[in-house]
Amino acid sequence: MGGGPVIPLTLAQIAEITGGRLHGEPTAVVAGQVVIDSRRAGPGGLFAAVAGERADGHEFASAAVAAGAVAVLATRAVPVPSVLVADVPAALAALARFVVDSLPSARISGITGSSGKTTTKDLAAQLTERLGPTIAPAGSFNNEFGHPLTVLRANSSTRYLVLELSARGPGHIAYLCGIAPPRYGVVLNVGHAHAGQFGGLDQVARAKGELVEALPADGVAILNADDPRVLAMAARTAARVVTFGVHDRAAAIRAADVRLDDLGRPSFTLLTPEGSAPVTLRLHGAHTVSDALAAAALAGELGLDLAGVADGLSAAEARSRWRMEVRRRGDGVTVINDAYNANPESVRAALEALGHLAQDGRAFAILGHMAELGAISSASHEDVGEFAARADLAGLIAVGSEAEPLLAGARRVRSWTGEALAVPDGAAALDALANQLKPGDVVLVKASRAAHLEGVAAVLIQGEADR
Ligand SMILES: Nc1ncnc2c1ncn2[C@@H]1O[C@H](COP(=O)(O)OP(=O)(O)O)[C@@H](O)[C@H]1O
Ligand SMILES: [Mg+2]
Repeated sequence: MGGGPVIPLTLAQIAEITGGRLHGEPTAVVAGQVVIDSRRAGPGGLFAAVAGERADGHEFASAAVAAGAVAVLATRAVPVPSVLVADVPAALAALARFVVDSLPSARISGITGSSGKTTTKDLAAQLTERLGPTIAPAGSFNNEFGHPLTVLRANSSTRYLVLELSARGPGHIAYLCGIAPPRYGVVLNVGHAHAGQFGGLDQVARAKGELVEALPADGVAILNADDPRVLAMAARTAARVVTFGVHDRAAAIRAADVRLDDLGRPSFTLLTPEGSAPVTLRLHGAHTVSDALAAAALAGELGLDLAGVADGLSAAEARSRWRMEVRRRGDGVTVINDAYNANPESVRAALEALGHLAQDGRAFAILGHMAELGAISSASHEDVGEFAARADLAGLIAVGSEAEPLLAGARRVRSWTGEALAVPDGAAALDALANQLKPGDVVLVKASRAAHLEGVAAVLIQGEADR
């Protein structure tokens, strides 16, 4: 996946690019990875020291150099070769920009949206790998640290950078676009993820649209025609617009005959201006069709032919963990681990998938809180609770701080006969389900990352029906 050493830079160059002060040998060369985790520091690399919540990277400066790092990017003096800068993320951004500017043949794509960025990025990267060496972030490495570190992995053999851009406020995406200016921009949807930081959906749309505003006139804006706020971004870009959509029949890239197998994996006919081809995804949930169409549109614009796109989508694996991972246990109980993150749209998508998987059994959901929703938090949890009850769950186990509004929403559905329970934590959720599960039952585990429910899913996956 790109492999090889990175673009070599001398310490003198690094000091110049970052505006930093060099303490060390100017001609020493960094030709290894740039890392912020000292345990990942290796020969020839550069260790960027950042002060995190638990530890201050400066304390690991010597360890990083002992492990082979040539120098440390730091904000205060360290007892090893260093480049001292005022701001480490800004220095990483400057280095990343220097690297992409020295790789004019690498084509840069940015993917944003409220839900599905990582899924789409992983699909798109598996398509562009068919065209040439590709650099894409691992998991959701998409913020002011992960983004430049990903870009810094590129080298002269890199042909495609497939980047995930996340925004927690206005200006964030514009900033990330400045680090690696994309020529191709994909906007998936405008939803309630981090809505608390933005104010409302129109503000979310403002921020996500910074991606298409950053595209040049010879670029391509790939927009979801099913989402009116995304489609409206066509007016905000100089780039050519290409649309995709599951529902909008005017979209350029579409899906017809969408069907789900018994594990919720979609098959569909991919419709493009070049023709049509069958696709069977290895991902779970109908919502992944939209993500697949976005990836197809991007790869098509980058030059992959229809057969390559369809085969590539059908062969693509889920690369990032805890997003709609479906496991069927030996005893016939199915567990859906979707505990990576949660917002109103992605919980609904997961509940729909749960309903589909549980056609021959009972559906249970262990739902934790959806973080960062701000003023709409309570109402959003009530709405999701109501949606869960309408999905006719056998049991809704609400975990943690927002359990009460989740259950209050579920109680609005008077016809619902399922069991509702509020528990303080994951262990209590497991206790509540113990001895209840039978063959054919399906359990969804979903919450924001902060709830750490992936451990609950792991226990359930290993568990026996008669635990
Ligand atoms: N198009 C979509 N609409 C709604 N939910 C989605 C969509 N694509 C993915 N999801 C769900 O959103 C959650 C996060 O997916 P992920 O791909 O990690 O998105 P992101 O990187 O934007 O957070 C998962 O639960 C996933 O199943
Ligand atoms: Mg992500």
